[in-house]
Amino acid sequence: MIDVRLLTKNYGPYRAVDQISFSVKKGEVVGFLGPNGAGKTTTMKIITGFMAPTSGTASVAGFDVFENPIEVKRRIGYLPETPPVYGEMTVESYLRFVARLKGVERSRVSTLVERALERTELGPVRKRLIQNLSKGYRQRVGISQALVSEPEVLILDEPTVGLDPRQVAEVRDLIKELAGQHTVILSTHILPEVQATCQRIIIINKGKIVAEDSLETIGRRMQGTSRVHLRVSEGGEALVNKLRSLAGVRNVESRAPGVFEIETDGTKGVSQSLAAAVVSSGAGLLELREEALNLEDVFLKLTTSEESQQETEEKSPYEGAQS
Ligand SMILES: Nc1ncnc2c1ncn2[C@@H]1O[C@H](COP(=O)(O)OP(=O)(O)OP(=O)(O)O)[C@@H](O)[C@H]1O
Ligand SMILES: [Mg+2]
Repeated sequence: MIDVRLLTKNYGPYRAVDQISFSVKKGEVVGFLGPNGAGKTTTMKIITGFMAPTSGTASVAGFDVFENPIEVKRRIGYLPETPPVYGEMTVESYLRFVARLKGVERSRVSTLVERALERTELGPVRKRLIQNLSKGYRQRVGISQALVSEPEVLILDEPTVGLDPRQVAEVRDLIKELAGQHTVILSTHILPEVQATCQRIIIINKGKIVAEDSLETIGRRMQGTSRVHLRVSEGGEALVNKLRSLAGVRNVESRAPGVFEIETDGTKGVSQSLAAAVVSSGAGLLELREEALNLEDVFLKLTTSEESQQETEEKSPYEGAQS
């Protein structure tokens, strides 16, 4: 449904997007994840035809974004990072306006506007001027206008920014509901967001794709490494060296006197041998707790160790990130 090939965007001498390629199948919900300045918004602006790339191509439903911009825009609902302001319009008249603009038949406009109002819980403010709405409500209007024509493809740039917790949950549920019938790309730097809504994640850093995986695969990778939190009453250099020498232990770091974070390769029995080593050394075991690496750890490793990551592409990202 969406095909991006070797897309590059330079702003003057600065390369914001660097030869990225990916595709999204019909009905898929894909999360575009990356730190500030990674190039998410730039990529989305190109896919939606709002900005020309320096090189490379993008197509939506088989239409090249630049050769057939009208066909593409009809099929896309786009929530920009900074939604356009039609402050002097009421919520309802703005949604009617967008629906007509998107080519919705006059007879269907009312039904679709009602549905969009309901889905984003904007009914109570439908007669209000957009300029008088709070920030969160304006964000809802942005989401509502992206949905109103029920487009095949939705491109949502940070859809939950500025929403209150209840609305965040509502919007996430809504995005999950859209899966299957609609193709969705959403950008975020909030991890729980992709965990809650996306089947696949594309992690982008400094204009490049550093990982592209299903949540399942990332989950499996997470199981490959785990962390043990250890607290002892007396732990010195000798204990640390002893722990480091154990099979399955990748790294031992001291967090505070007697408190250690131990990274293991996830092999069964590592925790038992850690416990045994602590007890036999007489360090006084106070606490030993296993923690799985979460998506946040994976994200940090991928986006803060890009260079070492690239040099060791065939190894796991953890090995590349250790130095
Ligand atoms: N119009 C512009 N002119 C010059 N540089 C730009 C322009 N727009 C974006 N950039 C730069 O390109 C890089 C990528 O920006 P982009 O907005 O795509 O990042 P992003 O991943 O959306 O970040 P954020 O999470 O902060 O929204 C940034 O370094 C930004 O400063
Ligand atoms: Mg952005």
